[in-house]
Amino acid sequence: MDKKFKRTTVTTALPYANGPIHIGHLAGVYVPADIYVRYLRLKEREVLFVGGSDEHGVPVTIRARKEGISVQDVVDRYHNLIKDSFQKFGISFDVYSRTTSETHHKLASDFFRKLYDEGKFIEQVSEQFYDEQTGHFLTDRNIRGECPRCHAPEAYGDQCEKCGATLSPEELINPYNAETGNPLVKRETKHWYLPLDKDQPWLEKWILEDHKEWRPNVYGQCKSWLDGGLRPRAVTRDLEWGIPVPVEGAEGKVLYVWFDAPIGYISNTKELCDNHPEWGNWETWWKDPETRLIHFIGKDNIVFHCIVFPAMLKAHGDYILPDNVPSNEFLNLEGNKISTSRNYAVWLNEYLEELPNRQDELRYVLTANAPETKDNDFTWADFQARCNNELVAIYGNFVNRALQLTQKYYDGLVPACGELNEYDRETLAEFGDVKSRLENLIENFKFREAQKEAMNLARIGNKYIADCEPWKVIKTDPERVKTIIYISLQLTANLAIAFEPFLPFSSKRLREMLNMDTFSWECLGQTDLLPTGKQLAQPSLLFSKIEDDVVQAQIKKLEDTVKANEAASYKAAPVKENIPFEDFEKLDIRVGLVKACEKVKKSKKLLKFTLDDGSGTDRTILSGIAQWYEPERLVGKRVLFIANLAPRKMMGEESCGMILSAVNYNGNLSVTTTLDDVKGGSQVG
Ligand code: 2FM
Ligand code: ZN
Repeated sequence: MDKKFKRTTVTTALPYANGPIHIGHLAGVYVPADIYVRYLRLKEREVLFVGGSDEHGVPVTIRARKEGISVQDVVDRYHNLIKDSFQKFGISFDVYSRTTSETHHKLASDFFRKLYDEGKFIEQVSEQFYDEQTGHFLTDRNIRGECPRCHAPEAYGDQCEKCGATLSPEELINPYNAETGNPLVKRETKHWYLPLDKDQPWLEKWILEDHKEWRPNVYGQCKSWLDGGLRPRAVTRDLEWGIPVPVEGAEGKVLYVWFDAPIGYISNTKELCDNHPEWGNWETWWKDPETRLIHFIGKDNIVFHCIVFPAMLKAHGDYILPDNVPSNEFLNLEGNKISTSRNYAVWLNEYLEELPNRQDELRYVLTANAPETKDNDFTWADFQARCNNELVAIYGNFVNRALQLTQKYYDGLVPACGELNEYDRETLAEFGDVKSRLENLIENFKFREAQKEAMNLARIGNKYIADCEPWKVIKTDPERVKTIIYISLQLTANLAIAFEPFLPFSSKRLREMLNMDTFSWECLGQTDLLPTGKQLAQPSLLFSKIEDDVVQAQIKKLEDTVKANEAASYKAAPVKENIPFEDFEKLDIRVGLVKACEKVKKSKKLLKFTLDDGSGTDRTILSGIAQWYEPERLVGKRVLFIANLAPRKMMGEESCGMILSAVNYNGNLSVTTTLDDVKGGSQVG
């Protein structure tokens, strides 16, 4: 770490308390931040890890209305659920609080008031959309209307989900209140703005010149905002839920959620320090130039953490600015976008229940596949393959062999090391280099590469023990086996340290099995971590296989969600124009008994039905439903058909009528039939 810093404050984006945490959040923000913090702690660096829930803003209020409960109930429920699942997953926050806390309300309110008193805001009256029937101004997300680009009927005021266009509510055609459906009018309202245009010069220098080391995705996004020219940004909203604007005449207005949420990092630090004096004064973590501030966030949060929040901190004065903002891209799931509102995700709380004691497996896969430079995809097949072929077959297998052989040959005592041969020396040398390589990668936020490097160590160990074949050598040269096992055990102890930031649960178990007293980053690379004669504990398997049925069940769950979403979003087609009764009477609909049914040669679509239509002569009808039915399934069934449709030739066969099918929401056809046994030829009407 850079010499000018004495300590590090690490923050992670405060998740909205409007739903549980999913793997996208974990891969994007919390797992990388936790790796970084655990690494610093192992290095015995001073570090503070801040998390918390974002309990204001529109998302929580939408959730409350959807569920028919109060906003307070929503945030209580999800704050507790999120906090609990983070803890069970080993995200090792020093503090995890919430933006509805008293400390936060006061700190955020005072922050605003100081800027207000010092004239740092501009006041502006503007026209905003208003629902006259409910008496509310609406935020962008609560406004819907026709997309001006693709003409989708239900685009949001800030974005069209169909074509992806970024929009402003003014652009929508026929805007309406998303919840009530009421049409909207424009009405004047006053708000306070942060004049970001005035910050442009220093932000340009600070980011574009002084922080060229930021990740290309972060730097690039900042550059494009700056190149586009910054404009003043409103930091208040007309809403009921939030922190009241502490200014006279601002009744019914609250601080914009993106103004108060990042201040939450500071409030949560203060809460920790106020309650636990061993953490010192909260201001040290936020104002001392020897403190390094790092924000871990997802890519949709970049502008707020790199431009808006630094501008707020600078306007306030006294505060340090972030030294780095490692932001990841997005993680998709089985090729689709993860979505809280569509319930399409792997939810952390459910994962913890459905795959108990498998935290490290998920941590491993999310890091191995982390979207550090581009969007990535999580698939259950990849999850299973990585767990079984890497964690079980390489890391777990090596450790298990080394520990089992120690039990078998030496009753669990670390044997003495004899003379080293060339291969021993090479293997140990490869381990020796790893410390600086890992440090370099982790300190540059390249966690994916770093974890690969750690797994590579396990690979080397696995190869070493497989090549040395102690189980064979024991018969011819028992002294040599002592050296092989001694080296294997030292490698195992190194793995426990190297993997601790990434896989803390298995590292802890391994450390216990090895009875390791010394456990710090500085020991990494040493070859005498377990002294000769040391008694090891009884070993157990570090990892076990993920079976097919576990993965299949998870895939099915996602498929069921997709189906349920499709069904829920299905809207029946409008009813056709009315017709006179005589027109209906012209149609002759009847019941037919399927005597035979077969595929039509050379056609993927058609099935050929032979029906008993009550006339005494078989009737042939061709129907385009081969995609949905095996013909045998239909034999013996009663179907409805139109008997007086003029015959048509299809694929060289004459079809006399039409079999009736219902078109399901997803386009699938379902043949219609009768509830009771009805004779072939019976009329339907
Ligand atoms: O995007 C989000 O989920 C926000 N709740 C993140 C807030 S980060 C910070 F500012 F608190
Ligand atoms: Zn659109």
